[in-house]
Amino acid sequence: MSNTASETFTPRHVLVTGGAGFIGSAYVRRALARYPDLRVTVLDKLTYAGNPQNLAPVAHDPRYRFVQGDIARRDDVLPALRDCDALVNFAAETHVDRSILDAGAFVTTDVYGSLVLLEAVKELGTPRALFVSTDEVYGDVEEGASVETDPFAPRSPYAASKAGGELLVRAYRITHGLPVLTTRGSNTFGPYHYPEKLIPLMITNALDEQPLPVYGDGRQRRDWLYADDHAAGIDVVLRRGTPGEAYNLGGGNERENIDVVRRILELTGKPESLIQHVQDRPGHDRRYALDCAKAHALGWRPAMSFEKALEETVRWYQQHEDWWHPLKGGEYAAYYKQQYAARLA
Ligand code: NAD
Ligand code: TYD
Repeated sequence: MSNTASETFTPRHVLVTGGAGFIGSAYVRRALARYPDLRVTVLDKLTYAGNPQNLAPVAHDPRYRFVQGDIARRDDVLPALRDCDALVNFAAETHVDRSILDAGAFVTTDVYGSLVLLEAVKELGTPRALFVSTDEVYGDVEEGASVETDPFAPRSPYAASKAGGELLVRAYRITHGLPVLTTRGSNTFGPYHYPEKLIPLMITNALDEQPLPVYGDGRQRRDWLYADDHAAGIDVVLRRGTPGEAYNLGGGNERENIDVVRRILELTGKPESLIQHVQDRPGHDRRYALDCAKAHALGWRPAMSFEKALEETVRWYQQHEDWWHPLKGGEYAAYYKQQYAARLA
């Protein structure tokens, strides 16, 4: 087992849990394109957020295999992990607004699912396991930037569930010596992003000339990170990080929501009159910010500027209506009504 940062870990076969989602699929597409000898197995439950089309570009690659399964079920996890020498866990319930409406699945997947994965890593002696987490575990950051040793102060059920999963990772490192790593990424955007989150929701609503629901005054701040850059950071931490450590991965692009929404309207050529300020999210965090010196020291930096990444993202949604338009029916329509109907009335 490799235990120091100076030794680079080279995985041969990675189990990517949650690999059919937004960032997980970016990681899989990137890893298979970059490493000719790498094998990847994806284990994904295919919840509303999981989409096999996100993996269509690699579907016929002989080094890739897909297994439908639940990280909270030992019987799904053990056989999938058995042949692998690394685990990268993306699987989670991820949307703050949904966690406010119903938090149950968040605890089952983000906390209990992490426990099941840790138990499997322990039982099989998997050489390395990386757990993808979020800057939201630090809570609202009025000023300055969070460092990895800052205390957790989650304020939404989503953030609390991610923090719970992370605390188990920490405990399994200390108690059982597992070779685990954690990344805490900032708000991520890019192609294949389910249209419930700010950027894809605003782009797709703008393209459909529907109202853009901005919570409260819209002056909350997020640090935006392009999905490929997030995937690259996770890869660097997996290969060069020190087991037992956590690494912040931020984009260095702090923006107010309202400015992001206005820029989306410019890029789509739609009028500002589509903006509708609506009732705020309860417990809404005003700001997240990360100090990323530790990940930078491993050699990772985001490659894309925010401006160029947002342009590319808007172009992707303009060119891939066949991907997102069908998603807006069914489950999404019911969620949208519950979340926005009264706010937009
Ligand atoms: P996503 O919601 O797009 O995808 C989640 C994936 O996990 C889906 O494919 C879903 O089917 C799968 N999944 C859910 N429950 C599962 C279960 N019980 N078993 C197996 N698979 C399951 O999420 P995302 O935006 O790609 O986020 C991936 C990870 O990155 C999450 O852990 C999230 O907390 C973290 N993260 C996300 C962001 C962001 O801005 N999107 C920022 C920082 C960290
Ligand atoms: P979101 O994409 O849900 O990410 P997170 O809450 O995890 O940071 O939201 C990003 C910001 O955008 C957050 O401040 C809430 C705000 N927001 C809106 O104003 N309107 C919306 O419809 C959504 C989904 C988010």
